[in-house]
Amino acid sequence: MTFADNTDPLTTAAGAPVADNQNSLTAGARGPLLLQDLWLVEKLAHFDREVIPERRMHAKGSGAFGKFTVTHDISRYTKAALFSKVGNEVETFARFSTVAGERGAADAERDIRGFAVRFYTSQGNWDVVGNNTPVFFHRDPLKFPDLNHAVKRDPRTNLRSPENNWGFWTNLPEALHQVTIVMSDRGIPKSYRHMHGFGSHTFSLINAAGERHWVKFHFRTKQGIENLTDADATELIGQDRESHQRDLYEAIEQGDYPKWTLYVQVMPEADAATYRFHPFDLTKVWSKKDYPLIEVGELELNRNPENYFADVEQAAFTPANLVPGISVSPDKMLQGRLFSYGDATRYRLGVNHHQIPVNCPHAATLVNSYHRDGAMRVDGNKGGVPGVQPNTYGRWAEQPQYAEPAEAAGAVADRFDFREDDDNYFEQPGNLFRLMTEDERQRLFENTARAIKGARKETVELHIENCGKADPAYGAGVRKACEEIGAL
Ligand code: HEM
Repeated sequence: MTFADNTDPLTTAAGAPVADNQNSLTAGARGPLLLQDLWLVEKLAHFDREVIPERRMHAKGSGAFGKFTVTHDISRYTKAALFSKVGNEVETFARFSTVAGERGAADAERDIRGFAVRFYTSQGNWDVVGNNTPVFFHRDPLKFPDLNHAVKRDPRTNLRSPENNWGFWTNLPEALHQVTIVMSDRGIPKSYRHMHGFGSHTFSLINAAGERHWVKFHFRTKQGIENLTDADATELIGQDRESHQRDLYEAIEQGDYPKWTLYVQVMPEADAATYRFHPFDLTKVWSKKDYPLIEVGELELNRNPENYFADVEQAAFTPANLVPGISVSPDKMLQGRLFSYGDATRYRLGVNHHQIPVNCPHAATLVNSYHRDGAMRVDGNKGGVPGVQPNTYGRWAEQPQYAEPAEAAGAVADRFDFREDDDNYFEQPGNLFRLMTEDERQRLFENTARAIKGARKETVELHIENCGKADPAYGAGVRKACEEIGAL
């Protein structure tokens, strides 16, 4: 039945017929309202609670369902059931987002893009909660709330602040790699369909023999990379603030399903100790010469959600949604995120958010946790089954066959200065800069100058110094562009 065909009569939330949805109940034709107008009270009270907290980061986003098909065998690296054989197919849900903007922000802003993909597998939900860039601004989760405050609004002016933003970035030299990407052509994708996605962190794969490999996930767009210049984006936002949402929705409605190829880079466990870059440093990439891309499968998005709030706004991704054969690494940032997402979701959606259909592990063979009760428990709460273990029934036994191999971990607990471990922050952004054509470099300089304009002179000078350490021509180009538009 379509929306237009549905002429069912109106009822209250409790199912009682509503006699009049046009006129409130008043004492006399021109008199005050009566509290006994139950329908008016219910309608206003529900409306008053329609808004839920937006995501602290990545508040503006678009989502779609689809499928993932395994096209190449990686079972030598992972025992995950999803990858057990070529041809396996699972349902997926993806949500793309901008990062700094609020829920009503324009899509075509210069910013990194979130790229979150959920795989509904027989062993539970696996989420890759990544970005369209392979690196990030910093290396320690302690700095994430500061990053948030740096890119969001100033507490007094309620405006975005170049000084808050760039003063933070430039004082973290490790941010230069990510900053260079965001200020480059890739800083404003034309749409969500025209960008790659990266798990970014190092994760691990564990095979049936109990061997661990370190892994990075790459989704490469089959639509090709396409970007907007600052001028294109300014014009577009003037006409359409929802350009990414519209593009994704309409492509799927028209049957032009967007696709990405999933690749992995795989590093043997022992290499981590000797690799020339810190392999768990999120501000660095692994060389593809050292660890080539291995093709795995295809992600296709082919179904728009029937209801945006139900499926997209209520989607709750977390890097902690892992399945046997795919696991964590010591990357500090990943470790911080393993806590933060579930915590944010319990605040945003409540402790029973797993029951919301988009979050429900509906493809899992079994969902048998001992969690009970809590607000909005609506799935029967496991009925009369006692929530206690151990018990003499052997009920809901642990599954030791899924235990992970032991992992060597540092023995001395301390607040180690990661800069003493690897402070080579400028080589990779320098390499990226040297790969750019003259035109691309010029746009990088000008994008940077426009974005940093308004920051203190000291901040601009510090950024130029950092760029110069990556490549003298990078520093000189940014200086000239800043001088030309009066940013210095
Ligand atoms: C959203 C925390 C770094 C990608 C979020 C949310 C939080 C958060 C609290 C909102 C979650 C919600 O309400 O559902 C953090 C912390 C980080 C971090 C503490 C670092 C320590 C990263 C990195 C990436 C990333 C490095 C990508 C590689 C995303 C994405 C979303 C998100 C894609 C939106 C997910 C969605 O579409 O619902 N982050 N984040 N974050 N974050 Fe992070």
